[in-house]
Amino acid sequence: MTKKRLSIFASGSGSNAEKFFEYFQNHPQIEIASVFTNNKSAGVIERAQRFNIKHHVYNRSFWQTGETIVEVLESEKIDFIVLAGFMLLIPKALVARFPNRIFNIHPALLPKFGGQGMYGMNVHKAVKAAGETETGLTIHYVNEYYDEGAIIFQESCTINPTDSAEEIAAKVLRLEHKNYPKVVEQEVLKSI
Ligand code: GAR
Repeated sequence: MTKKRLSIFASGSGSNAEKFFEYFQNHPQIEIASVFTNNKSAGVIERAQRFNIKHHVYNRSFWQTGETIVEVLESEKIDFIVLAGFMLLIPKALVARFPNRIFNIHPALLPKFGGQGMYGMNVHKAVKAAGETETGLTIHYVNEYYDEGAIIFQESCTINPTDSAEEIAAKVLRLEHKNYPKVVEQEVLKSI
């Protein structure tokens, strides 16, 4: 049986991406085929090189229409896309070509603290400023709007009043690393 092929899109450090590289390294049914980034200085590039995974860097204009990217994904026979800290809106052409086949992780309990501009530390600072007593992560399918596709999985954690935004971020990132590859695995296996 041919393995399902996943591509990871990331704009930053890539710690979630690395969890995927590790988790699927010797997986019988799923493999990480490539990484796409919009940021030539992204930490994810070094992580991909360390795991011998091909990467592509495309500048903002390529991400606006998405046509070139669809062609590359098709040439690599990609079945699913995983957004792991990817900061640009996914072009309509890509959503249309991969319906319910693009996953995103968001570092809060959507629909709270989502939408344009809500990424990374911005989210945790907003959660802290709002005086929330819990936060968490959300894994969802991607549609044409930021953070609005159908939710697949959420897990929460407690916020102590003394927690800084950085401490909140660290708690949520631990939850992300623990859950994201497993949840994607379950969803991909349903398609087989
Ligand atoms: C993660 O916390 C992810 O949830 C967040 O960016 C971080 C990337 O970290 N994504 C968003 O905010 C998307 N709106 P990483 O590069 O270390 O995986």
